[in-house]
Amino acid sequence: GHVRNFSSSPSLNVIQNVTVVGGGLMGSGIAQVAAQAGQNVTIIDVKPELLEKAQKSIKSNLVRVAKKTFKDDAAKAEQFVKDSFDRIKVSTKIEDGANVDLIVEAIVEKLDAKQELFKKLDDLSPEHTIFASNTSSISINEICSGIKRKDRFGGLHFFNPVPVMRLLEVIKGDDISEATYQAMMAWGKSVGKTCITCKDTPGFVVNRLLGPYSAEALRMYERGDASKEDIDIGMKLGAGYPMGPFELADYTGLDTNKFALQVMYEKTGNPVFEPIPLLHKMVEEGKLGIKTGEGFYKYNKNKFHYRK
Ligand code: NAI
Repeated sequence: GHVRNFSSSPSLNVIQNVTVVGGGLMGSGIAQVAAQAGQNVTIIDVKPELLEKAQKSIKSNLVRVAKKTFKDDAAKAEQFVKDSFDRIKVSTKIEDGANVDLIVEAIVEKLDAKQELFKKLDDLSPEHTIFASNTSSISINEICSGIKRKDRFGGLHFFNPVPVMRLLEVIKGDDISEATYQAMMAWGKSVGKTCITCKDTPGFVVNRLLGPYSAEALRMYERGDASKEDIDIGMKLGAGYPMGPFELADYTGLDTNKFALQVMYEKTGNPVFEPIPLLHKMVEEGKLGIKTGEGFYKYNKNKFHYRK
């Protein structure tokens, strides 16, 4: 293909080498979409067994994608899986992932862990390397507060499951340069996503709006205004949503839901995010949704429910 080379503006070079730090649920998905798009990917994780797990889940996801994309051509499908998979390297050493065009962080949702990681990478990486965080609840400005390349830092917020969900939120911190922002938007497109942009604001766009919606659904159910089944049917057939709010909460995990509401309440003070007793009770009881076999509904834990 035709590769443009903006020599005066290194961050606008086409991104070809990507590192994903954290090979969990999100990181493995991000690595997969980049490899599928023809990019060289390195996955870094602290735990070797999680790297193995990531490779396994990527392999089986690639097989699924290949079957869909190359329906009548088994040879092409196999080649696609092999080529994509071969572009992925894994390592437990951060140094092995430092020298690339873009580093996407998808580690544990803890500010100090993220800050520490980026400080290390800031010293190890060449000047042109762009850094991004996949955080859903931490401020982008806070994550990059200790590094020098604040102009080459932003949020790349993917949605679960990454290979399926078509959206990418590109988050602009206060110090991001136009070149970095444009490179992030172009990269998002290159991995098959539609990008939207927002400022470094709590919940960004999608979670900020899902919060009050899911909170009010819980309150309706708590008040006995309607059954959870009817609320779910209502939003699917009346609003065209693919899942109702209770199905979505079970899918995302009630612990994650509770945490998201809590963070947005702390950061905005908006009473729509106030704690919901029913949600807290269910989390205490370990009813977290699909991953524990029970949330608002019951699940067969051994059945594939779209989640890991
Ligand atoms: P996860 O727990 O599945 O994966 C995290 C991985 O990071 C684990 O494999 C862990 O071993 C590794 N890790 C932890 N500390 C590390 C370090 N210092 N260096 C290298 N690897 C390290 O978590 P998940 O769900 O993939 O979330 C990752 C990030 O993505 C979080 O910031 C989360 O807020 C964000 N996110 C999660 C979404 C979700 O639906 N789960 C959606 C969008 C964003």
